[in-house]
Amino acid sequence: MVDLSYKPLIMGKKVTLRPFTEGDFPYIEECLKDPEVIKLTGSTPDFHRESIYKWYQTRNDQTERLDLAIVDPAQDILVGEVVANLYDESSQSMNFRILIGPRGRDRGLGTEATQLFIDYIFQNSNLDHLNLAVYDFNPRAKKVYEKIGFVTVSIDEKDLECEGDWIDFINMKLTRIDWFESKRE
Ligand SMILES: CC(C)(COP(=O)(O)OP(=O)(O)OC[C@H]1O[C@@H](n2cnc3c(N)ncnc32)[C@H](O)[C@@H]1OP(=O)(O)O)[C@@H](O)C(=O)NCCC(=O)NCCS
Repeated sequence: MVDLSYKPLIMGKKVTLRPFTEGDFPYIEECLKDPEVIKLTGSTPDFHRESIYKWYQTRNDQTERLDLAIVDPAQDILVGEVVANLYDESSQSMNFRILIGPRGRDRGLGTEATQLFIDYIFQNSNLDHLNLAVYDFNPRAKKVYEKIGFVTVSIDEKDLECEGDWIDFINMKLTRIDWFESKRE
């Protein structure tokens, strides 16, 4: 069992992670409609405003997953989100994902948000490992994950067709042991 019903406020040097609030919606909408986010997360440009609104209104009620807003304190607005979802009891694992919109990218916020969030998850659960998947045309995200300690475990070749090319999907993993070792370095 994993109990992530408590939604924390986590303050770093560059970012704050916190539960979603009503005022976040226009900013999350901006992130989700951003062409780079759509492409790099493999999502569709169809945007159903009401269902997305409901989705974010219910994130703080979830007990087996954790969804937090990434806030840039310098602007005091949501610039993205970090998520641990898809809890698997048999392997004691969850999936990790992150997205940052145009107002927040390439300033080190993603690296710090990932580190803070992953530290929180391992410190507040008995999970054995976290999984994630990243498209091969996203070297920036791969770099962030490698910096945190994720390692490639397998590749789903030619998983996505994009502008006439077939793109591999890289599956990465961070074990509790490797995370713990990285904190001792
Ligand atoms: C991926 C993402 C979370 C990274 O967050 P970020 O705040 O933009 O990234 P950071 O500034 O913290 O770090 C980026 C790192 O990648 C490096 N980088 C940037 N572009 C790169 C490229 N083309 N190739 C290799 N490395 C690259 C940077 O130099 C930096 O590394 P450094 O700190 O060692 O110099 C964010 O850009 C994002 O959400 N993008 C859109 C959606 C997405 O890709 N989500 C992930 C889907 S798997």
